[in-house]
Amino acid sequence: MDFELANALARIVELKDRSTGAHTWRVTMYAQAVAEAERMPVATVMGFMLGAVLHDIGKMDIPAEILAKPGRLTAAEYETMKSHTVLGWERVQRMGVRDPLVLNVIRSHHERIDGSGYPDGLAGEDIPIAARWFSVIDGFDAMTSLRPYRHDVGEDAAARAIEEICEHAGSWYEPRAVEVFETLHRTGRLDSILEHLNDREGHASLVGPLTPDAMDLARNALMDSAKDVADAERITAILDSRPEDLR
Ligand SMILES: [Fe+2]
Repeated sequence: MDFELANALARIVELKDRSTGAHTWRVTMYAQAVAEAERMPVATVMGFMLGAVLHDIGKMDIPAEILAKPGRLTAAEYETMKSHTVLGWERVQRMGVRDPLVLNVIRSHHERIDGSGYPDGLAGEDIPIAARWFSVIDGFDAMTSLRPYRHDVGEDAAARAIEEICEHAGSWYEPRAVEVFETLHRTGRLDSILEHLNDREGHASLVGPLTPDAMDLARNALMDSAKDVADAERITAILDSRPEDLR
């Protein structure tokens, strides 16, 4: 899968999950910064970034009222929310994605080193390394971005987020990934990405507004990935939901 299609798909997910705003854009830029700081091979950098773009694609399968709920989720709603990992992992495979790096980020980005994460409750090195690294990024962005339940963001929030991530190094997060991310933050190399924190409209994206071609590409890929009639209807509803945002 190329970045144009992946970005279009991520934008479509954001149509449904408005609260994430430019979340996808930011985590992908953070992923690039981390991968380059670690001097990962180019193919690994690209795979890691593609995993970042697509990591929450399964949210298109989660009811909008759960995604947008301002208060605490009930236990049942939380179980449904958690399934975005496996649903996304399944959907991109129906789209032909085979790169384990990309698939691992999508399925396992909510796992924790101590085994308390989801969906598989994996622990330590059983969690694929790309997912261990990405969860630091996703955690940081979750703690520093506007959400239905969070309105305090900015540099203070970033400092607090780094503190919290450092506290959980070795329990939730891969220590080496925490170290790299903390250094990038301390040396100001994440600042230009952080500046996009308050894009309440969620219009920041990797390649700008979706072109009609990108939209067609995404529409075809999504319809091809439909597993049954109900799924195809759900996809159609999302695609038709806010056509003005796709221009
Ligand atoms: Fe997620």
